[in-house]
Amino acid sequence: MLHGKRVLLIVTGGIAAFKSLDLIRRLRERGASVRCVLTEAGAKFVTPLSLQALTEEKVYSDMFSLTDESEMGHIQLSRDADLLVVAPATANILARMAAGMADDLAATVLLATDKPVLAAPAMNVRMWTHAATVANVETLKKRGVTFVGPNEGAMACNEFGPGRMSEPLEIVAAIEALLTSEKPLAGRRALVTSGPTREALDPVRYISNHSSGKQGHAIAHALARLGADVTLVSGPVVVPDPAGVRVVRVDSADQMLAACLAAGAVDVAVCAAAVADWKAAKPATAKIKKKTGAQPPALELAPNPDILATLSKPGAKRPGLVVGFAAETEEVVANAIEKRTRKGCDWIVANDVSPAKGTFGGERNTVHLISAKGVEDWPTLAKEEVALRLAGRIALHFGQPPKAQAAE
Ligand code: PMT
Repeated sequence: MLHGKRVLLIVTGGIAAFKSLDLIRRLRERGASVRCVLTEAGAKFVTPLSLQALTEEKVYSDMFSLTDESEMGHIQLSRDADLLVVAPATANILARMAAGMADDLAATVLLATDKPVLAAPAMNVRMWTHAATVANVETLKKRGVTFVGPNEGAMACNEFGPGRMSEPLEIVAAIEALLTSEKPLAGRRALVTSGPTREALDPVRYISNHSSGKQGHAIAHALARLGADVTLVSGPVVVPDPAGVRVVRVDSADQMLAACLAAGAVDVAVCAAAVADWKAAKPATAKIKKKTGAQPPALELAPNPDILATLSKPGAKRPGLVVGFAAETEEVVANAIEKRTRKGCDWIVANDVSPAKGTFGGERNTVHLISAKGVEDWPTLAKEEVALRLAGRIALHFGQPPKAQAAE
């Protein structure tokens, strides 16, 4: 898939740098050529000799090397590449990229490039969740940098959480998606719902759930990358807006339904939002007072509209393909099969949301794709990877872009 593609791999200083050696091997197996920039800190973890042996290319480190500048030049390094990949991307390089610094060869090449950039972060969990890193990542995403990972798990520093660099094959999948020039969903309109809804009990309290929006947002991003014109209707989340996607923010299920209907005709709808099934029958207009000695107030609930079932109703306005999600804690596949029939959607993506699985808010997901044809069990993947696979399947379902079909 990567035949003839040129990747400039920037290796910075993290323990995950050892995985970059395997990444080079995987990329070359797929026909890509790889050239490396190694930072001073990166060289503490892998040697220029290892990178050179694996890439069969000279390794660049020094911005002020007369030989390197005369042979190649830092601008030429990025000009010659189809894609720049920063793996591992430490908190330090992300901060320098966000600040637009050019204090070494890696940062200078990243500042000087007009090519797509993919970053595979790797750092301690507290560095990843630090407000400074969160803000830097958001800035870089807004500027069009694509991220793969990090994954959650045990780390070299004996801590657990998000911060592990994605596995080489996950990075390869992200590279393939970025370097695929085909836009099989060009001319298609997509609607994606994501995140939780909030159902007000009174002006200060609400019913909600643990959805972070990571899965739904990744799906919107993946569909946009394949060329679709995407509207993302999102409940309240803190994950950044995906690049190249129209985002409509809502709070409640009623607002989410209204926003979905206002999005107009679409070719595909993917309902990944965790919509609250119930809302307060009569939300109080003022804060409900806690009275000493009184019983807690009884909570009277009313059903929310079912957005997926509404979008799935047969009719001229029904999207060509409606994909639901099923969040289950037991009998995952059997319950999801029943849900697909009951709600009338074409496909349903089943996932286990038992707390032990860490699906809500986590980085990875284990899903089963269920259609009229049967059940496909997918391996545990980063949510971005689940999204890319699902978007790929949606593209396959539609076949050629509408313009190409019209030309036939
Ligand atoms: O957001 P993350 O932290 O990344 O977590 C991802 C996720 C677990 C939220 C996601 O993968 C997922 O499973 N989303 C569906 C959550 C859900 O509400 O599932 P459900 O089984 O209760 O609902 C089935 C389907 O009906 C879903 O497509 C849901 O969007 C839809 N629905 C449900 C109720 C309702 N009133 N309206 C709906 O449209």
